[in-house]
Amino acid sequence: MSQSQGDALNVGIESIGIHLPPLAMQVEELAVLRGEDPEKYTVGLGCSQMAICPPGYGVVDLASEAARRALSRWDGDRSKIGLIAIGTESAVDMSRPLSAYVAERLGLSGGIRSYEVKHACYGGTLALRQATEWRMSGVGGDRAALVVAADVALYEEGDPGEATQGAGAVAFVIDEPEIAAIERETYAYSEPEFDFWRPVGDRFPTVNGKLSLDCYKRAAEFCFRALLDERDPEKALQMFSAICFHVPFPKMVRKAVLRLGEAFGLTAEKIIDLFERKVEPTMLWNKLSGNAYTASLWISVASALQGLSPGEKVAAFSYGSGFGAELVSLVAGPRAKAGAWAADIESDVANRKLITAQDYRTLRAVPRPA
Ligand code: CAA
Repeated sequence: MSQSQGDALNVGIESIGIHLPPLAMQVEELAVLRGEDPEKYTVGLGCSQMAICPPGYGVVDLASEAARRALSRWDGDRSKIGLIAIGTESAVDMSRPLSAYVAERLGLSGGIRSYEVKHACYGGTLALRQATEWRMSGVGGDRAALVVAADVALYEEGDPGEATQGAGAVAFVIDEPEIAAIERETYAYSEPEFDFWRPVGDRFPTVNGKLSLDCYKRAAEFCFRALLDERDPEKALQMFSAICFHVPFPKMVRKAVLRLGEAFGLTAEKIIDLFERKVEPTMLWNKLSGNAYTASLWISVASALQGLSPGEKVAAFSYGSGFGAELVSLVAGPRAKAGAWAADIESDVANRKLITAQDYRTLRAVPRPA
C-alpha cells in the first residue's frame, strides 16, 4: 500500500472553482410581488439575494464554469483526472449524466469514471465522499478526481419556499490536500421520509415545509452526537474554527444550532456565541447565492476555508431531503490562507445584474423544461 493509500490526511482538496449565474434579485422585490412583509424574508428566513439563471442558462453552464475554474487553478495535468462525479438535483436527462455534458464542454475523455449522483441537496457531499474514498482506497492510484455540486433551485410561484430560491455551483479537484485534507472519519444518518421531493416530470418540488425543518434538525443532532461521542460538547466543538451547514435559508441553520445547544445542554448564551463566531460568518456567500441545493454547503465551506492557517479544522454538515445527512471534517492546508477562489464570487457578484420584481415576473413566464 502506498503512503497516499494509507494516510487519509494525504487526500483532499487541491483546487476550488465557484460560479454563480449572471442575474440576482433582492428578496425584498419578491416580497412586494407576493404582498408579504419584506422582514418575513430578511429576518424571518434570514435571506438576502437569490441568484437567478436567465432563460437558456442552466445547470450545465453553472457546473461547467465552476469546473473550468477549478481546473485552471490546479497544477496537475488533465490526463491525471480519473473520476468525475457531479451531485445535482437539477438533472437535465434521466439517463445521460450531467458529468457527460460537463466533460464534453471541458474536453475530458478517456480512462475516466464519470457519473452523476442524486440525493437531493446531499448529492454533492456524496460525490465528494465517493471521490475521496476512491482516492483513499488506492483503486485509482494517484489519479485525481473532479467533483462538482451544481443546482438551480426554483419553486412554484407563490410557494412559501420561493424566497429561498437560488443557484450556483462549486467544483473541487480532489488530489493533494493543498487547500484542505478531508478526514477519513465521517458520520452519516438517513431515514426514508417525504419532506421535499420532485417526482419525474414535475417542474417544481412538493414540500412539507415544517416536516423538512424537523428532519433537518433530527439529522443534525444525530450526526453531531456521533462526532462528539462521549466528549465534552463545548470543548469538542471549539476544536473547529468554523462549523458549516447546508443552508436552505440562513434561519434554518440557526434553528439547527439552537437544537444542538439544547441537546448538548449548552447555555443559551454559549450556543449563541458559538453560532455568531463559528457558524454565521460562513453564510455570507450563501446570502448572495440563495439556496443552491447541493452547492449550498460547499459554498459555505469554500467561504470558511479562505484565510485559515494550516491545521485549522472545519466541520461540514450536509442534509438532503428524502432524507440523508452526513457530517464531514476538513483540515486546512497551506493554500487555504490565500483563498484564491474568493475571486470567483467577487467577480460573479460584481458582474451580475440585479433584476426587479417586474423582470422576475417576465422571466418566470418563459417556459422552462421540466
Ligand atoms: N417579520 C419578521 N419575521 C416574520 C414575519 C415578519 N413580518 N413574518 C413571519 N416571520 C417569521 C416567522 O415567525 C418564522 O420564524 P420562526 O420559524 O422563527 O418562527 C419565519 O418568518 C418563517 O415564517 P413561516 O414559518 O410562516 O414561513 P412559511 O411557512 O411561509 O415558510 C418554510 C417557511 C416552510 C421554511 C418555507 O420557506 C419552505 O417551504 N422552504 C423550503 C423548504 C426548506 O427549505 N426546508 C428546509 C429543510 S429541507 C432542506 O434543507 C432541503 C432543501 O434545501 C430544500
